[in-house]
Parts: sequence; C-alpha cells; structure tokens
Amino acid sequence: MSGKLTIVDHPLVQHKLTLMRDVGTPTAVFRQLLREISTLLAYEVTRNLDMTTRRIETPLQEMDAPVLDGRKLALVSILRAGNGLLDGMLDLIPSARVGFVGLYRDEETLEPVQYYCKLPGEISDRLVIAVDPMLATGNSSAAAIDLIKEEGATNIRFLCLLAAPEGIARMHEAHPDVPIVTAAVDERLNEKGYIVPGLGDAGDRMFGTK
Ligand code: URA
Repeated sequence: MSGKLTIVDHPLVQHKLTLMRDVGTPTAVFRQLLREISTLLAYEVTRNLDMTTRRIETPLQEMDAPVLDGRKLALVSILRAGNGLLDGMLDLIPSARVGFVGLYRDEETLEPVQYYCKLPGEISDRLVIAVDPMLATGNSSAAAIDLIKEEGATNIRFLCLLAAPEGIARMHEAHPDVPIVTAAVDERLNEKGYIVPGLGDAGDRMFGTK
C-alpha cells in the first residue's frame, strides 16, 4: 500500500457519511454512525495484512488454515477526535493494542506540540494504524506520525474519515511511506482550516461540546 491513497467508496460507507455530514444529525446518532463507519473502514485498511497458515483439525480432517501473521497490530488515536474511531475498529480487531498521541498548536509558532504519547510496546514489530477522522491541513497528522516513527514504528498506515487535498499533499510530502485510507476527499480547506463541505468539527459533533 506504499505511497497510496485509498478512497473507500462502498455504498454503506458513503450513505453513513452523508448522514454524518448533515447538520441536523444529533450527537448520539453521529457517534453511532462513526462507530459503524469505522468498522467498515477497518475492514479496508486491514485488507492486505500479512498472512500465514496454522495446522488445525476440522471435524472432517486436518488442514493448513490461514491466520494473521506477526505481532498484534497497534491502533494509535490522535487525540481527541481519533478516539471516535477506536470502538468500531476494535469491534473488528479486538486484540489490537491501542496507543494515544496528543498534540496542541502553539499559539505563537503555530507548530504542533506534543502533550501526551503512550504507545504499545514492541512498536517497531507492529503494523501501526494511526487514526484521526479529519485530515485537514495535515500538520498535526504529520507531526503525530513523526512521533510514532521516533518511537520506532516503521510500518504505518493512516486512516481518516474525510480528507482535504491539502492534507493529503502534506502527508504524502512528509511521509510518502504511509498509505492513507479515507471515505472521501472533499473540495478544500476554508480560511479557518475546516474541510469544505466537510462535517464541521468532528470532536465537537461526536462529544457534544461547543
Ligand atoms: N478538524 C475538524 O474536526 N473538522 C475540520 O473540518 C477540520 C479539522
């Protein structure tokens, strides 16, 4: 999947995304839709995981049956909105390890600053799926991937719900080795850094803040 952008155009994903974009969708429904859509996105982002075989016995005979290879993968939520994608992904990948990266934007330098980082052990041996619903400017996502790489990860994918062309370009420039999976690529960013047409502030909509 290297250097790649995958847009998940499955009808169920697109239908649920439309419901999420609608300004009239209440918080509880928004959160439920996000959970459902993240399960479907998890299915796509894990489509080509490494496989091996295990010798098992069915009620009829022995066989070499396919199983996932390697260490349990790691989901890394970029706080706070990334948390909205975790439960739906864990429904599908219950044994995944989970990490968190928190960044804020320094008001003077406008650079992302780390305030929290807790990643699963043996991160260098795991496939890491970094998750954030909105890939907007790409600055905080690129900084989060910097941090995850500094901790030793070498095999990373980025999963989001919506992406702006600016954010994709920034991520491809900073991390060409990190494939991006998204449900849609919107038109542009507005002057405040919101994705247009987008769905508004994902964190506010899922947590009912603002
Ligand atoms: N973050 C959001 O939650 N929404 C946007 O449109 C852009 C960044």
